[in-house]
Amino acid sequence: MERDPQAHWLETETALHYARSAVRVGIWASERALIERHFSQSHRILELGCGGGRVALGLLQSGYPDVIATDFSPIMVSLARAVLADHDEAWEKIVEQQDATALTYPDTCFDGAIYAFNGLMCLPSRAHRLAALRSIHRVLRPGGILLFTAPDREKGPCATYQGKEARLADGIPGDYWHESETSPVFMHSSTEAETRGELSETGFTVTECPLSTEVASDGPLVRQFAGETRFYVARRT
Ligand SMILES: C[S@@+](CC[C@H](N)C(=O)[O-])C[C@H]1O[C@@H](n2cnc3c(N)ncnc32)[C@H](O)[C@@H]1O
Repeated sequence: MERDPQAHWLETETALHYARSAVRVGIWASERALIERHFSQSHRILELGCGGGRVALGLLQSGYPDVIATDFSPIMVSLARAVLADHDEAWEKIVEQQDATALTYPDTCFDGAIYAFNGLMCLPSRAHRLAALRSIHRVLRPGGILLFTAPDREKGPCATYQGKEARLADGIPGDYWHESETSPVFMHSSTEAETRGELSETGFTVTECPLSTEVASDGPLVRQFAGETRFYVARRT
C-alpha cells in the first residue's frame, strides 16, 4: 500500500514531539547566527511549516516582534499556539493555518521568510517544492530573504547515510522514508546544484548556503534533533 507523505504531520504523537522540541531544543545556534545576519528586528517575517513553534518562539524571545508562524497541519497549529501562549498569551495569535504551496497572503507583504529544519524537503515532490517556492516568492517583497535548510546527500558528515537511504522511496534520487520516533517521514535530500537550480527557476538568488556545522557549533540536543543539514539563504529577485 502506498504511504501518504503528508500523513505523518497530522499525527498527535508527531506534533507532541515538535511541541516538546520547541521548548527543550529551542532555536539552534546556527539558525540564530544566520537570522541575526540576514533579518532585522523591524522585518515582517513569515514562518512556513512552524511545527510546534520552535523557531517562532526563539524569534519572539529574541526581540523579533513581527512574526506570523504557519503550518498546514491543524494539530501543529494548535500545539504551536499552546507553546507560544505558555510564554505570552498574546503570542498565540501569530499562528495561522496555511499550506506553504498555496499561501493566501497579499503579494509582497513580508520582508523575510523562514522554512526551518528541512520543511521544504518534506513536501511530497519537486513539483510541490517549486509550488512552495513560487508561493513564498509571491508574498515576499523584492529583495526579501528566504532562509531554509535541506539535507545534503553529497557533502557533509551525513552524506553517505543520506545517499543510502535516498534509494529507498520511489526511485527518484534523494527521495527516502526516514525512520522517526513516530511514523516514517518522507524526505528529499538534495544536492547543492539541484536546490540552487530550483531557487533560480523560481526567482531567487542564493546569497550563501553553508552546512550547519560551518555556521556555528550546535549543542548535543540540536545534533540529536536535527543532525547535519545545509542552510540556504536566498534573495527574492
Ligand atoms: C520537519 S518539520 C519542521 C517543524 C519546525 N519548523 C521545526 O523546525 O521544529 C516540517 C513541518 O512542515 C509542515 N508541513 C508539511 N507540509 C506542509 C505544507 N504543505 N505546508 C505547510 N507546512 C507543511 C509539517 O506539518 C511540519 O510541522
